Amino acid sequence: MNAPRPLIAGNWKMNGLTEGATALTRDLLGRLPDANGGPEMLVCPPSTLIARVGELIDGAPMSLGGQDCHVASSGAHTGDISAAMLADAGCQYVIVGHSERRADHGEGDALVRAKAEAAAASGLVPIVCVGETLEQRDAGEAVAVVTGQVRGSIPEGQGGSALVVAYEPVWAIGTGRTPTAADIAEVHDAIRACLNDIAPAADAIRILYGGSVKPENAVEILAIDNVNGALVGGASLKGADFWAIREAAPTSPTS
Ligand code: PGA
Repeated sequence: MNAPRPLIAGNWKMNGLTEGATALTRDLLGRLPDANGGPEMLVCPPSTLIARVGELIDGAPMSLGGQDCHVASSGAHTGDISAAMLADAGCQYVIVGHSERRADHGEGDALVRAKAEAAAASGLVPIVCVGETLEQRDAGEAVAVVTGQVRGSIPEGQGGSALVVAYEPVWAIGTGRTPTAADIAEVHDAIRACLNDIAPAADAIRILYGGSVKPENAVEILAIDNVNGALVGGASLKGADFWAIREAAPTSPTS
C-alpha cells in the first residue's frame, strides 16, 4: 500500500507569548500553498495560545494540537487540561507521553495509554511518543525499549489515521545529535512490525521521527522507509526552518 500522507508537527513546548506566536503563525500561513496538498502541517502551541492560534489558522490547511492531556474529561485537577477541552478549543491532535513529561512528571506507559484513550474518546488523534535513553542505546536495548513502550502506550483497537506514533530518542531531543539513518530505519521498521502485530490498519499509522530535526538533516531523515513525518521542537519556532522541513518531505502519492 502507499505510504501514509506525511505529517510535519511542530511542538512549541513551553515557548511563546501572544505577539511572537501570532507572528510565527502568520509567517507559516503566508507560506502555505493554496492547494491543500503535500504533507499535513500541525502546530502544537502551549495551552494559553491554542485559542489564539486556532483563530488565526481557521479555514487554512493547518492542523492544531495540544501537548498533553489529563485522563479525565473534567473535574478537580488543578492546572490540568482535558482532551475534551482541547477538542473544544479546535484541536485535532494531542501529544502524549513526550519524554519530557515521562521524565519531568514521572509518566509511565500505563498513564500514557490512558491519556491516549482519553484523547481518542474525545475525537482527537493521539501522538504517542516513545524513545530510548542514551544508556539504553549504548546497552543495545533501543529496539526492545521502544517496542515495549509502543506495546504499553498505544490504546487497544486504535490504528489507521486515528493514531500517530513518534519515535524520539531522548538523547537526540534538543541536543543537535541525531541517530544515523540506519539506526532510525531499524527502529522505525521495528515499530511498524510491532504495530502490524497489535493494531488495526497498521500500514496507515504514521510513525514520526523527532529529535533535532533541522532543515539540514530533514531530507535524509524524511526519505527513510517507515518515517512518515517529523515531530519538530526547536526548529518549529522559526517559520523558515519549519517550512524548510515541510519542503523536505517526500510528496506522497496519497496526498
Ligand atoms: P527538538 O525537539 O526538535 O528540539 O529536538 C523535538 C521534540 O522534543 O519533540
